Amino acid sequence: MSDIEETPRAGWRSYIPLILGLVVVVAGWAVFTSPDLSAGDTSSDAGSAPPPVASGGGSGEGNAALGEAIYQATCSACHGADAAGIEGLGKPLAASPFIQSLSDEELVAFINEGRPADHPDNTTGVAMLPRGGNPSLTDQDIHDVVAYLRTLN
Ligand code: HEC
Repeated sequence: MSDIEETPRAGWRSYIPLILGLVVVVAGWAVFTSPDLSAGDTSSDAGSAPPPVASGGGSGEGNAALGEAIYQATCSACHGADAAGIEGLGKPLAASPFIQSLSDEELVAFINEGRPADHPDNTTGVAMLPRGGNPSLTDQDIHDVVAYLRTLN
Protein backbone atom coordinates (compact mmCIF):
# COMPACT_ATOMS: atom_id res chain seq x y z
CA MET A 1 0.00 0.00 0.00
CA SER A 2 1.56 3.27 -0.98
CA ASP A 3 0.63 6.64 0.40
CA ILE A 4 0.96 8.49 -2.91
CA GLU A 5 -2.48 9.99 -3.02
CA GLU A 6 -3.47 13.58 -3.76
CA THR A 7 -5.92 15.19 -1.44
CA PRO A 8 -9.16 15.98 -3.27
CA ARG A 9 -9.12 19.46 -1.85
CA ALA A 10 -5.88 20.40 -3.64
CA GLY A 11 -7.37 19.17 -6.92
CA TRP A 12 -10.52 21.22 -6.42
CA ARG A 13 -8.58 24.37 -5.64
CA SER A 14 -6.67 24.18 -8.87
CA TYR A 15 -9.94 24.96 -10.70
CA ILE A 16 -10.52 28.27 -8.92
CA PRO A 17 -8.82 30.41 -11.61
CA LEU A 18 -10.81 28.63 -14.29
CA ILE A 19 -14.08 29.21 -12.46
CA LEU A 20 -13.28 32.89 -11.93
CA GLY A 21 -12.40 33.18 -15.61
CA LEU A 22 -15.73 31.64 -16.62
CA VAL A 23 -17.60 34.06 -14.37
CA VAL A 24 -15.86 36.99 -16.05
CA VAL A 25 -16.62 35.65 -19.53
CA VAL A 26 -20.29 35.02 -18.75
CA ALA A 27 -20.70 38.42 -17.14
CA GLY A 28 -19.05 40.11 -20.13
CA TRP A 29 -21.29 38.20 -22.49
CA ALA A 30 -24.38 39.21 -20.54
CA VAL A 31 -23.39 42.89 -20.71
CA PHE A 32 -22.55 42.67 -24.40
CA THR A 33 -25.85 41.07 -25.37
CA SER A 34 -27.94 43.30 -23.13
CA PRO A 35 -30.40 45.35 -25.22
CA ASP A 36 -29.61 48.48 -23.20
CA LEU A 37 -26.13 49.50 -24.33
CA SER A 38 -26.72 53.25 -24.18
CA ALA A 39 -24.19 53.85 -21.41
CA GLY A 40 -21.07 53.10 -23.44
CA ASP A 41 -18.93 56.23 -23.13
CA THR A 42 -15.14 55.96 -22.98
CA SER A 43 -14.42 53.37 -25.68
CA SER A 44 -15.75 55.07 -28.77
CA ASP A 45 -13.75 54.41 -31.89
CA ALA A 46 -15.76 55.21 -34.99
CA GLY A 47 -17.42 52.30 -36.72
CA SER A 48 -17.09 49.76 -33.94
CA ALA A 49 -20.82 49.27 -33.38
CA PRO A 50 -21.97 45.68 -33.86
CA PRO A 51 -24.28 45.08 -36.83
CA PRO A 52 -27.98 44.72 -36.08
CA VAL A 53 -29.01 41.12 -35.62
CA ALA A 54 -31.97 39.85 -37.64
CA SER A 55 -34.89 39.00 -35.42
CA GLY A 56 -35.72 35.39 -34.71
CA GLY A 57 -33.26 33.20 -36.60
CA GLY A 58 -30.48 32.32 -34.22
CA SER A 59 -27.88 30.94 -36.62
CA GLY A 60 -28.28 33.26 -39.61
CA GLU A 61 -27.11 36.85 -39.41
CA GLY A 62 -28.07 38.01 -42.92
CA ASN A 63 -31.29 39.70 -43.99
CA ALA A 64 -32.70 37.84 -46.99
CA ALA A 65 -34.98 40.70 -48.09
CA LEU A 66 -32.09 43.17 -48.22
CA GLY A 67 -29.99 40.46 -49.81
CA GLU A 68 -32.46 40.00 -52.65
CA ALA A 69 -32.22 43.71 -53.53
CA ILE A 70 -28.41 43.50 -53.48
CA TYR A 71 -28.54 40.33 -55.58
CA GLN A 72 -30.76 41.95 -58.20
CA ALA A 73 -28.51 45.03 -58.35
CA THR A 74 -25.12 43.28 -58.48
CA CYS A 75 -25.38 39.57 -59.23
CA SER A 76 -28.41 39.13 -61.48
CA ALA A 77 -26.62 40.55 -64.53
CA CYS A 78 -24.56 37.37 -64.73
CA HIS A 79 -26.53 34.88 -62.66
CA GLY A 80 -30.02 35.83 -63.87
CA ALA A 81 -32.92 37.57 -62.13
CA ASP A 82 -34.22 34.13 -61.10
CA ALA A 83 -30.70 32.89 -60.20
CA ALA A 84 -31.02 30.14 -62.80
CA GLY A 85 -27.74 31.21 -64.39
CA ILE A 86 -27.00 32.74 -67.80
CA GLU A 87 -25.09 30.71 -70.39
CA GLY A 88 -21.57 32.12 -70.81
CA LEU A 89 -21.97 34.63 -67.94
CA GLY A 90 -22.71 32.98 -64.61
CA LYS A 91 -23.69 29.63 -63.20
CA PRO A 92 -27.04 28.82 -61.53
CA LEU A 93 -27.19 29.87 -57.88
CA ALA A 94 -30.62 28.37 -57.21
CA ALA A 95 -30.63 24.66 -56.33
CA SER A 96 -26.84 24.84 -56.44
CA PRO A 97 -24.85 21.87 -55.09
CA PHE A 98 -21.88 24.21 -54.64
CA ILE A 99 -23.85 26.61 -52.42
CA GLN A 100 -25.42 23.75 -50.50
CA SER A 101 -21.98 22.32 -49.77
CA LEU A 102 -20.64 25.49 -48.12
CA SER A 103 -21.29 27.03 -44.72
CA ASP A 104 -22.41 30.66 -44.61
CA GLU A 105 -18.90 31.75 -43.66
CA GLU A 106 -17.36 29.75 -46.49
CA LEU A 107 -19.84 31.20 -48.96
CA VAL A 108 -19.13 34.75 -47.81
CA ALA A 109 -15.41 34.07 -48.20
CA PHE A 110 -15.97 32.66 -51.69
CA ILE A 111 -18.01 35.66 -52.84
CA ASN A 112 -15.41 38.05 -51.41
CA GLU A 113 -12.62 36.34 -53.34
CA GLY A 114 -14.38 35.21 -56.50
CA ARG A 115 -12.90 32.59 -58.82
CA PRO A 116 -10.49 33.64 -61.61
CA ALA A 117 -10.94 32.20 -65.09
CA ASP A 118 -7.69 30.20 -64.71
CA HIS A 119 -8.66 28.78 -61.31
CA PRO A 120 -8.65 24.96 -61.29
CA ASP A 121 -12.28 24.90 -60.06
CA ASN A 122 -13.48 27.19 -62.83
CA THR A 123 -15.79 25.33 -65.21
CA THR A 124 -16.89 28.10 -67.59
CA GLY A 125 -13.63 29.87 -68.45
CA VAL A 126 -15.31 33.08 -67.27
CA ALA A 127 -14.16 34.82 -64.09
CA MET A 128 -16.35 35.27 -61.04
CA LEU A 129 -15.09 38.67 -59.83
CA PRO A 130 -14.43 39.44 -56.16
CA ARG A 131 -17.74 40.60 -54.60
CA GLY A 132 -19.34 40.13 -58.01
CA GLY A 133 -17.25 43.05 -59.27
CA ASN A 134 -18.86 45.48 -56.82
CA PRO A 135 -16.16 46.45 -54.27
CA SER A 136 -18.56 48.80 -52.49
CA LEU A 137 -20.46 45.85 -51.03
CA THR A 138 -19.83 45.50 -47.30
CA ASP A 139 -19.41 42.25 -45.37
CA GLN A 140 -22.95 42.73 -44.09
CA ASP A 141 -24.19 43.10 -47.69
CA ILE A 142 -22.53 39.80 -48.56
CA HIS A 143 -24.09 38.11 -45.52
CA ASP A 144 -27.48 39.44 -46.66
CA VAL A 145 -26.93 38.04 -50.17
CA VAL A 146 -25.99 34.69 -48.66
CA ALA A 147 -29.20 34.72 -46.60
CA TYR A 148 -31.12 35.35 -49.83
CA LEU A 149 -29.30 32.56 -51.68
CA ARG A 150 -30.22 30.19 -48.83
CA THR A 151 -33.90 30.80 -49.63
CA LEU A 152 -33.23 29.40 -53.15
CA ASN A 153 -31.37 26.29 -52.04
C1 HEC B 1 -19.57 39.63 -64.23
C2 HEC B 1 -20.40 38.46 -64.03
C3 HEC B 1 -20.68 38.01 -62.60
C4 HEC B 1 -21.24 38.74 -61.59
C5 HEC B 1 -21.70 40.19 -61.61
C6 HEC B 1 -21.37 37.84 -60.46
N1 HEC B 1 -20.88 36.61 -60.79
FE1 HEC B 1 -20.86 34.94 -59.59
N2 HEC B 1 -20.00 33.88 -61.10
C7 HEC B 1 -19.72 34.36 -62.37
C8 HEC B 1 -19.16 33.28 -63.15
C9 HEC B 1 -18.70 33.37 -64.61
C10 HEC B 1 -19.12 32.15 -62.31
C11 HEC B 1 -18.65 30.74 -62.68
C12 HEC B 1 -17.16 30.59 -62.58
C13 HEC B 1 -16.78 29.17 -62.90
O1 HEC B 1 -16.83 28.80 -64.08
O2 HEC B 1 -16.44 28.44 -61.99
C14 HEC B 1 -19.65 32.57 -61.02
C15 HEC B 1 -19.77 31.74 -59.95
C16 HEC B 1 -20.38 32.06 -58.76
C17 HEC B 1 -20.60 31.16 -57.68
C18 HEC B 1 -20.16 29.69 -57.66
C19 HEC B 1 -21.20 28.82 -58.36
C20 HEC B 1 -20.73 27.41 -58.60
O3 HEC B 1 -21.60 26.54 -58.76
O4 HEC B 1 -19.51 27.16 -58.63
C21 HEC B 1 -21.25 31.85 -56.70
C22 HEC B 1 -21.70 31.33 -55.36
C23 HEC B 1 -21.44 33.20 -57.19
N3 HEC B 1 -20.90 33.30 -58.44
C24 HEC B 1 -22.06 34.19 -56.49
C25 HEC B 1 -22.21 35.50 -56.95
C26 HEC B 1 -22.81 36.54 -56.19
C27 HEC B 1 -23.42 36.37 -54.81
C28 HEC B 1 -22.75 37.67 -56.94
C29 HEC B 1 -23.20 39.07 -56.55
C30 HEC B 1 -22.61 39.61 -55.36
C31 HEC B 1 -22.12 37.31 -58.19
N4 HEC B 1 -21.80 35.99 -58.16
C32 HEC B 1 -21.89 38.19 -59.23
C33 HEC B 1 -19.92 35.63 -62.84
C34 HEC B 1 -20.46 36.67 -62.10
